[in-house]
Amino acid sequence: MTDAKPKLFPAQFVWGSATSSYQIEGACNEDGRGPSIWDTFCRQPGAIYRAANGDVAADHYHRWREDIALMAELGLKAYRFSVAWPRILPEGTGRVNPAGLDFYDRLVDGLLEQGIDPYLTLYHWDLPQALEDRGGWPARQIVDAFVEYATVVGRRLGDRVRHWTTHNEPICTSLLGYFWGIHAPGIQNPAAAMAAAYHVILSHGAAVRALRAVLPAGDQLGITINLTPAYPATDTDADREAAHRYDTFINRLFLDPVLLGSYPAEVLDLFAMLGLGVSAEDLQIMSTPLDFLGINYYTRAVLRHDPSVLFLQADEVKPVGNEYSQMWEIYPQGLYDLLTRVWREYGPAQPHLRLFMTENGICVPDDVDYDQRVRDERRIRYVSAHLAQLWQAVQDGVPLDGYFLWSLLDNFEWSYGYRMRFGMVFTDFDTQERIVKDSGRWYAEVIRRNGLA
Ligand code: FCB
Repeated sequence: MTDAKPKLFPAQFVWGSATSSYQIEGACNEDGRGPSIWDTFCRQPGAIYRAANGDVAADHYHRWREDIALMAELGLKAYRFSVAWPRILPEGTGRVNPAGLDFYDRLVDGLLEQGIDPYLTLYHWDLPQALEDRGGWPARQIVDAFVEYATVVGRRLGDRVRHWTTHNEPICTSLLGYFWGIHAPGIQNPAAAMAAAYHVILSHGAAVRALRAVLPAGDQLGITINLTPAYPATDTDADREAAHRYDTFINRLFLDPVLLGSYPAEVLDLFAMLGLGVSAEDLQIMSTPLDFLGINYYTRAVLRHDPSVLFLQADEVKPVGNEYSQMWEIYPQGLYDLLTRVWREYGPAQPHLRLFMTENGICVPDDVDYDQRVRDERRIRYVSAHLAQLWQAVQDGVPLDGYFLWSLLDNFEWSYGYRMRFGMVFTDFDTQERIVKDSGRWYAEVIRRNGLA
């Protein structure tokens, strides 16, 4: 995008940044927090790059005041964070830990004092270990446990938090955790994974119903789904079908039950093949009306037909010649394709739904220069190119209300440990010193101007 015209966003557009509890908080054994599946998974040999864990992470549990001051300095209008379930209910259900609730209470008040709107996510993957021991997401009783947890948090913070997200990226909770096993709890079992995918969405709908009963009228409820637009590697029917299958099992597996109250036929076949039941009543719950859909976008997938890949029969190819980050291909156009497609296909069933980009960002190997600056030009280029696509989608009628850059701080990047830095603020993991990167200063200008210059 070399277009010189400024790209300004709608007047009330929400500019924010996102983090999650396990990735930044640390303080894993403090103030009554119970163990989570990530504490356990990190101890599994070979699970995490350099055997890292989130015991300290960015020490946000102790440094939240300083972090809020940084957000204020950057001019953020909103901050998306997640609540650690094991801080609130250390055994998953039953006994509530008041110190856990107090932490988020102070955080929310601290944000509001600075005029930063809290966007709360209930589940960003740190399931209490006690619940995994009772069967985790593959076992249906998790739905009641999630509703119980959501209700406790809703009662305490409902008077101040206006935007509530049930789940972050259900595919990671289910398929990464129980099928590919690269996320906690590290299980590889197709039936367990598909049961988890079903229960995550069921728990979402059930929690939305429970939250509506305890939250003040007007509070906004949603879910965040990460979407990966799929493109065929070649123009053959076989590759086009491969891309279609990928889209079905990676994107529509979650979009359809939430927004349409149904599953694609191929997904129903797979549920049946694995002996898993789907009921009309559950689909009703899953599709409980929402106020917003959060979308996370990082990259696309390019697929070719490959019968050796279980279920998907599709394999990803990495196009040559394009720019890559340490993790993914950089493909801004995919964001425009994705947003317009979501709105075209799901908008008619959900005309009142608002959309937020709840995550978008890039990891590059940042370091501190001699003069204490972090010159992360590639991040600026990435975010700028994606904002240009976002802007175009808004011009073309997609009802987008905000953008949350992933992430505020460098943090614990799951199985990659501390190798991947996504922050617009640099974290020195030895001293916990924070340094605003060039991208942070640049983003502050974007917010001030309400768009791209
Ligand atoms: C997303 C996750 C987030 C972070 C980014 C890079 O999938 O929601 O926690 O790891 O990727």
